[in-house]
Amino acid sequence: EHLEVEGPEETIIDASLPVLRSTSPESRVDYTGAQIWKVSTQNTNVRGVIYRLRRRNLISTWGGNQSSIDILVKSNAVNNVTRVFKRERIPIEVVIEDLQQRINEENPPLDPNEVELQNRRGHRMTWKQYHRVEDIHGFMDYLAKTYPKIVSVNSIGKSYEGRDLKVLRISDGKPTNKAVFIDGGIHAREWISPATVTYFINQFAENFDVETDDIKNIDWYFLPVVNPDGYEHTHQSDRLWRKNKKPSRTTSRTCIGTDLNRNFGYRWGGKGSSGNPCSEIYRGSSAFSEPESKALSDFIKSSSANFTAYITYHSYGQYLLYPWGYDNAVPPDYKDLDELGNRMASAIRQTRGSSYQVGSSSGLLYPASGGSDDWAKGQGIRYSFTIELSDTGRYGFILPTSFIEPVARESLNGLRVLAAQVAKL
Ligand code: ARG
Ligand code: ZN
Repeated sequence: EHLEVEGPEETIIDASLPVLRSTSPESRVDYTGAQIWKVSTQNTNVRGVIYRLRRRNLISTWGGNQSSIDILVKSNAVNNVTRVFKRERIPIEVVIEDLQQRINEENPPLDPNEVELQNRRGHRMTWKQYHRVEDIHGFMDYLAKTYPKIVSVNSIGKSYEGRDLKVLRISDGKPTNKAVFIDGGIHAREWISPATVTYFINQFAENFDVETDDIKNIDWYFLPVVNPDGYEHTHQSDRLWRKNKKPSRTTSRTCIGTDLNRNFGYRWGGKGSSGNPCSEIYRGSSAFSEPESKALSDFIKSSSANFTAYITYHSYGQYLLYPWGYDNAVPPDYKDLDELGNRMASAIRQTRGSSYQVGSSSGLLYPASGGSDDWAKGQGIRYSFTIELSDTGRYGFILPTSFIEPVARESLNGLRVLAAQVAKL
């Protein structure tokens, strides 16, 4: 982005937030007083102002599209940043007044009845809470053990910190089946994504006999947590962590994490990615430099399955995105993707009214190269989508647990439309 806007320098009070409060053994990043603002991009200065504030470490960007940007204003920068926006006459809306308060309320413990049920079921997974990797993997293993004729679980590799990358396959074993690959949790903080993908797994595995022919005629592959290290880090240390956890050294310092969705090897290294290891969109030292993206791509490449669709679930914003992401361009068959995307969106809308926008990710959001969707499409997988789940910014990444079931349910209705399309090819 080339968003430099010149203006008098602000006095920086103290830009070194978030504060690490040492609550040993594990220290947690504290977001007390940090705010989320929605900033309209009508005013021509906005992007430049945001760019400068981010460079000065007073804000970070959460999400956004062509009409507005959601920013996180660090707590000790709220007054300072407020003055900047006033002076520039940029209207803002405070969406979250105290981020830490939202984080504290997001994922409360289950009530005793639920815990009782949990203990009787043979696995601990629910869709009333956001679960740790251990619960998610335990649930997958439970299904493989319980339904060995249709469900199998394999580790396709290990994360940087050594966690399994578990793929669950659901199939009736018919050799003519098309295959669909679904993943979640590429970005650690997008908790609704693994929750939604495990909801699909539960529905298909527990009810396979009574599922539709479309569902039964597809070989399903699910990798619900692509980035388990990052995901665990969001539970234990920093709720807003995005990248994986592998450190990278620069000449002057070491920063942790690569954005796995900038690390895939299709037009890697282009727009919307950074070569700076400290950036939130660091692309890694080379395409597939990270064990998680490497394992995913090796698995798809070496599989004998006939992958016809790839869907990767992210949050937030409510978008159904198809390639290309790397730049403002679309694949030759984009009309098919657009048409299917719109039918999926209407199935989602018919569930309970949620509206999803459909379009290419570069066109609807911004160019970003190295995404898994572009890579999958480049591999010849016909239907490749990134789905940005709920919401549209009211809670953003910190989506309360009461949203899990409704969001997953409407998403399943969207997925059924894709399944029908794939099954009839
Ligand atoms: N929010 C996602 C990201 O920034 C969107 C990815 C869309 N796909 C793409 N290839 N740019 O990673
Ligand atoms: Zn994401």
